[in-house]
Amino acid sequence: MQRPRHGGHRAWAAAIAGCPAEAIVDFSASLNPLGPPQSVVQALVRALAAPDPVAISCYPDPDYRELRACLAQRWSVDPEWIFVGNGAAELLTWAAREAQGLEVWLPRPAFGDYERALRAAGAVIKPLDWLSCSGSPTAALLPEGIPGNKRGRVLWLNNPHNPTGQLIPREAILPLLPHFEQVVVDEAFMDFLPGDAPQDPIDLCAAAACPSGSVAPLPRSQTLIPYLEAHPNTLVIRSLTKFFTLPGLRIGFAVGHPERWRRWRQWRDPWSVNGLAAVAAAAALADADFRQRTLMWLPRAREHLLRGLQALPGWDPWPSQANFVLVRCPLSATQLQEQLLRQYRILVRDCLSFPELGDRYLRIGLRTLPEQERLLSACWEILENLSPIAPID
Ligand SMILES: Cc1ncc(COP(=O)(O)O)c(C=O)c1O
Repeated sequence: MQRPRHGGHRAWAAAIAGCPAEAIVDFSASLNPLGPPQSVVQALVRALAAPDPVAISCYPDPDYRELRACLAQRWSVDPEWIFVGNGAAELLTWAAREAQGLEVWLPRPAFGDYERALRAAGAVIKPLDWLSCSGSPTAALLPEGIPGNKRGRVLWLNNPHNPTGQLIPREAILPLLPHFEQVVVDEAFMDFLPGDAPQDPIDLCAAAACPSGSVAPLPRSQTLIPYLEAHPNTLVIRSLTKFFTLPGLRIGFAVGHPERWRRWRQWRDPWSVNGLAAVAAAAALADADFRQRTLMWLPRAREHLLRGLQALPGWDPWPSQANFVLVRCPLSATQLQEQLLRQYRILVRDCLSFPELGDRYLRIGLRTLPEQERLLSACWEILENLSPIAPID
C-alpha cells in the first residue's frame, strides 16, 4: 500500500502495525476526539428508523434549503450566500476551477489537496514561502509586496494554517483582499477557536485563548464570514468533518456571493451531499453543549501535548491555535512513525507530503489526555532505546 498523502488512513497503518484498524489510536487526522456528538448519532438513528426513512429513501433536496437555513442562522448570513458540499474537499475543487488559467498565490507548506485541485483545474501556482516568515506569518503577503494590477491574480489562504497551526489575525488578512481578483480562505479548523460561535461564553474565550501565555490572546471571532458582503471577490470554505468528527459522512459549506454559486451549480452533480450528512449537520449545529465541552477540553489538551513534546530532548513543537501541533524532531520522522505503529499501534502524521518540511516533522492531532500520555510515554521509550533509529543530523 502506498504511503498516504493525508492523515487518517487507518487501513495503511493497520497493515504496518499488523492489527485491526480499530486498534489504531489515530493522532494523524486532527479530528475532535470528543465526537461525533451523541445528538448526531441519535438524529441519524431516528432518521433511519422512521417508517419512511426519507434521508435514504428519497433524493435530497438539491437546494439543501433546510441545511442552508441552519447554517445561515448559525453564521448570521443570508441563506443565498451559502453553498453546501461533500466535505470542504469538494468545495476546493470548484474554487480551483474558478482559478483556471489564473495565477494562484499559495503559502506553502499547504494542505496537499490544494495542489490536486488547482493542478486539475489548470491554475498556475505561485508558491509563497510560509516558513521563512514564521515569526510573522503575514509578512510574505503584505500588499507592499504585491505588484500593480490585480487582474488574473488569486490568493488562497488557510486559516488556521495546516500544518503549522498558526492563525493569521483577520485584521492582517482584510487589507489583502482588494489586491486580488479572487480570494479563497479555507477555515476548515476555525470552529476550534473560541469565539467562532456567537454563543461562546466570553470567560471561556479568555481562558481558552492562551493558558500558558505562549500564544497571544485573541479578540473574539476570527472568521472572515462577516466581511464577505463588503468583499464579493472572497469566499470562505468551512468543514464540519473536523469539529464534529464526521469525516466518513462528508459535509462542508462555503460562504460567498450567490452569483458564484449559480456557476458552481452548473459544474457539480445535483445531490453531492447525501441525505444522512444533511441530517447529521443540522443536529450538530444545534448542539451547543458539544461545542462548549470541546472548547473547555481543547486548551488543556493542547497545553498538555505541547509541554509533553517540549520535554522530549531536541523536540521543538510550534505554538498552535488549532487542534493539532507541528513538531520538529531530531530524528527521522518516518522511522519514528513506523516504530510508533509497530510497537504501540499509534498513528502520527508524517510530513513528507509537505515537501518544505520533509522527514523532520510530525503533525500530531489533539486527543484525550490518557491517549496523549500513551503517545508521550511511547516516544520516551523509543528515545531511550534509540539504537534502531539513525539520527539524521
Ligand atoms: C486545511 C484543510 N482543508 C480542508 C480539508 C478537507 O476537509 P473535509 O473533510 O471537510 O473535506 C482538510 C482535511 O484534512 C484540511 O486539512
